[in-house]
Amino acid sequence: MTRQTKRVAVAGPVGTGGEMAAVLLGRAVAFRRALGTWFAASQRRLPWRAPRSVYRTVVSEFMLQQTQVETATPYFLSWVRRWPDFGALAGASPEEVLREWAGLGYYNRARNLHRLAGIVSALPALPRTVGEWERLPGVGPYTAAAIASIACGERVAVVDGNVVRVLARLVADGREFRSNGDAVTAFAALAQALVGGDDPGAHNEAMMELGAVCCRRQGARCGACPVASFCAARAGGLAGRLPRFAPRVVEQVVVRRLWLVRAGRLLLCRYAEGARRLSGLHELPLAQGLVADADGELAVLVARKRRSISQQRIVEEIVSMRWSAALGSRIAGRTDLQWVPLGELDAVALSGPHRRWVRELAGSFLALTTEAQGAFSGGVQ
Ligand code: ADE
Repeated sequence: MTRQTKRVAVAGPVGTGGEMAAVLLGRAVAFRRALGTWFAASQRRLPWRAPRSVYRTVVSEFMLQQTQVETATPYFLSWVRRWPDFGALAGASPEEVLREWAGLGYYNRARNLHRLAGIVSALPALPRTVGEWERLPGVGPYTAAAIASIACGERVAVVDGNVVRVLARLVADGREFRSNGDAVTAFAALAQALVGGDDPGAHNEAMMELGAVCCRRQGARCGACPVASFCAARAGGLAGRLPRFAPRVVEQVVVRRLWLVRAGRLLLCRYAEGARRLSGLHELPLAQGLVADADGELAVLVARKRRSISQQRIVEEIVSMRWSAALGSRIAGRTDLQWVPLGELDAVALSGPHRRWVRELAGSFLALTTEAQGAFSGGVQ
């Protein structure tokens, strides 16, 4: 693995937003009414909004923790069709749960949601308050506030990246934040002071919705904004420059993985149950530790894939190697490696990107002649 660091700049100076926050709070009732009217008329038809239930809210909030609405929607539909309530989900096996989640990433969410279903379905009554929800696995302050307000009507603010953006612009707050977490903390009090009315959940959803569809990170649609007349950034022509975040350090990482097929079976690595990352999931094995170029186990590049996770840009080089007795004995010595028949790949839980790559490469591989398959999978089989 090689690493190098690149700085990506973001910037632009303005005020701290304090005075404008007081102005906005002085008009809070009118602000909520304008936002609420817009949301009631224009909200996206998202499947967890109708029909609404505590279970559907919990599932959607887990999925939306790290995933965009568009990506989460088909997963949500398939999930609730298969497991329509906490009891049904509690009865599923961990493998089924992981397979259904495969492709959404951040798999601890699925494991925690499964554990939560087990706990909640054994309780005499559903939790209701932020404090009760926060005690459950995988439920942090943000998710607890979303569930408690949306599904249980508690008057508590939800502050995510979208809400931070909306608030920073409304009050023209030009402070530079080190991270999203810092910005969430900075806007928590203002967000809480704005929640009110008889449906705090709808207010929270409206704030998130406004950030997602109107007050967007790039290309704010101020002309279509229902609360533009309350917005200090718009008045100052600053909307596109707020909020401000300190320059991020982006790490470039190169990872080499093996594509090895023998006798119609593909070599995969399975992460141990309880591993910090990817527990129970399969991926193409890392080449490191299995092969050494110096051994003459010639590498042939079969694919180069790029992906990003949080602060990393990752280039994955998938290589096949010439088969050798040494390689065979290194593989045999590893309990985390498994040979999986090409026809049975759908039965194993692969992590999201690997599912795509393995499908694509297995399709190309099976379309080759036997002789070409030998070359593609790194030599004589
Ligand atoms: N992001 C997280 N929860 C959401 C919700 N209920 N509606 C829209 N976006 C969201």
